[in-house]
Amino acid sequence: MTSAETAERTAAPFPSAEPTPAGSEWWRTAVIYQIYPRSFADASGDGIGDLPGITAHLDDLQSLGIDAIWLSPFQRSPQKDAGYDVSDYCDVDPLFGTLGDFDDMLAAAHARGIRVIVDLVPNHSSDQHEWFQQALASAPGSAERARYMFRDGKGEHGELPPNNWESVFGGPAWTRVVEADGTSGQWYLHLFDSSQPDFDWSNEEVREEFRRVLRFWLDRGVDGFRVDVAHGLVKAEGLPDYIPNPEAGSMGGEDENVPYWGQDAVHEVYRDWRKILEEYPGDRALAAEAWLPTAERTAEWVRPDEMHQAFNFPYLQTEWDAADLRAVIDLSLRAFPGVGAPSTWVLSNHDVVRHATRLALTAENPQGHGIGPDSPGQPIPEVGLARARAATTLMLALPGSAYLYQGEELGLPEVIDIPGEARQDPTWFRTNGERYGRDGCRVPLPWNADAPAYGFNDSGASWLPQPAEWARLARDAQAGVPGSTLELYRTLLAERRARGLGAGSLEWLDGYGVDAVAFRNGNVTVVANTGSEPAALPSGIVIASSGPVTDVVPADTAVWVVDQV
Ligand code: GLC
Repeated sequence: MTSAETAERTAAPFPSAEPTPAGSEWWRTAVIYQIYPRSFADASGDGIGDLPGITAHLDDLQSLGIDAIWLSPFQRSPQKDAGYDVSDYCDVDPLFGTLGDFDDMLAAAHARGIRVIVDLVPNHSSDQHEWFQQALASAPGSAERARYMFRDGKGEHGELPPNNWESVFGGPAWTRVVEADGTSGQWYLHLFDSSQPDFDWSNEEVREEFRRVLRFWLDRGVDGFRVDVAHGLVKAEGLPDYIPNPEAGSMGGEDENVPYWGQDAVHEVYRDWRKILEEYPGDRALAAEAWLPTAERTAEWVRPDEMHQAFNFPYLQTEWDAADLRAVIDLSLRAFPGVGAPSTWVLSNHDVVRHATRLALTAENPQGHGIGPDSPGQPIPEVGLARARAATTLMLALPGSAYLYQGEELGLPEVIDIPGEARQDPTWFRTNGERYGRDGCRVPLPWNADAPAYGFNDSGASWLPQPAEWARLARDAQAGVPGSTLELYRTLLAERRARGLGAGSLEWLDGYGVDAVAFRNGNVTVVANTGSEPAALPSGIVIASSGPVTDVVPADTAVWVVDQV
C-alpha cells in the first residue's frame, strides 16, 4: 500500500473540524504538552520510547487536563541529533513504530479531545537523506548540490572553510567533502552537527518538497506543526563572517543581526505555508521555534499571514525575579496581541535545563550548554522545585497559550550527573565535553516507583540512565497525593480551563511589594513571590497554591485566590 492510500484509509482529523470564529481558535488558549518520544514511554522495551507507548498513556494526559500534544521528531532518522536529523520526512522511524502506529495514536488522541502537533525540521536534513547522498555523488555546480549549501573553500587549494561560522553544537559549521574522484572538494554548511546539512531555501525545489511534506501530514489529520529552527532557514547574501556572542546561548537568542538567524526572507516561507494550512479544515496551526532577542522580534513570526504561534523564549530566559518577569509579561502582552497572535508561555523543553533546576542556578548558564557535576552555580534542589512550582503557577494564569514539557508535571529536575560515557548530545562530543549539552533534560520519565526503569517500559532498559532518587517522583507516587507537583498541575489546569484564564486578560495589581508579580485575570488574583520575605495574601479563597500558605505568601510561592461570594 502506498503512503497516500494509507492516509486515505486512516486520516483522522479532529472531530469538530467546523470552522471556528476568528479569535477563538483552539491554539489561542491551548495548553500544549511536549512529548519527547524517545523518553516518554517505551512499549517495545528496547530502551527508547515509541508511538505505541504514547498511545498507551493518553488517558494519563487527558486526566492531566492538557488540550494538545506536540511530538518531537519520530520520522525516519539515524538519530545523530535524537531525531532532529531526518532522513525521510514522510515515514516513521522503526525505533518509534510505523505509520500505522502514528495513525492509531492520532485517532486515539483525537477521540479524547487532544489535538496533535508534529515537529517539522526544515532547516536541514540528515546526511543520510536521499538528496544529500545524491549531492555527495554529484559534481560541484549540479542540481543535486544546489539543494544544500555547498561552497568552494578559501585558500589556495580550497583548504579553508568558506567563512568562519561556528556550529550551534560547537566546532566549525562547515565540513569538506571528498569528491567522487577521491580528491578533497567542496564544503557544505551545517549550522548544527556535520550529520545535519543545511538546505538551500532559495532553491524552489526545496520549497516544493516541504509543501509536499506539509500536505502529507495534514492529509493524515495532524492539527499543526512545531517548526524547528524557524529563524534559521535563510542565510544572509554572501555568507558574511560572524562570531557569536558567547553569552547569547547556542541558538542566538540574545544576539541581533546574525547572518543566519532571523533574515527577512524567511518570512516568505511561512506566508506560503500558511496558505497551505488554510486549505485544510479545522484550524491547523504553525508554531515557530525562533530564538530572537525580544518578544517584539519574535512577534514578527506570527503576523496575520504567517505562523499562528511562536515560542516565547524571552519569557523562558527570564530569571526568577519579579521586576524582570513583570517586564517580559508586559512586553509579550503588547507584542503578540499587537499582531493579532496569542502570547505563548513556556518554561522548559528538550533544549534547556529543566526549570526545576534552572531557576535555582547561581551562575550564568547559556542555553544549550547544560550543566554537569563541576559546573559553577549548582542549584539547591528544594529551592529549584519551589521556584519551578511557583513559576508554573504564575505561567498557567497568564492569558494565551502555554507549553509544558513532559516530566515538569512531576517536578523533574535536570539530571546533572550523567556519566560522560552515557551522554549522547552531539554538543558534548563536538566540544570535547566542555559543554554538557541537553541530555540532562531528556532522561526517560518515571511512571511507577517500583517497576523496572520506573515503568518507562517492562524491560528496565533506558537510553539514558535514570537517577535512583526518581522513585519518589514517579507519577504513581504523586497521583492522588495532596500537595504533590502532579496534583498541583492538575488543579492549575482544571481551574485555568474552568475559569477561562487562557482567553482572559491581565490587570496588574499594586500593593504586594517589589518582589511580587501580582495581577488579576477574570475573578482570579495571582500573587507570585520571587523574594525572600513573605508577601501579602490577597483576601478570598485560595484555589491553588504552589506551596503551603498561612496568612501570607511565603518566599518562592505563588497563589491563585478567588473572591469570596
Ligand atoms: C532545534 C531542536 C533541537 C535540535 C536543533 C537542530 O533547536 O529543538 O533539539 O538539536 O533544532 O535541529
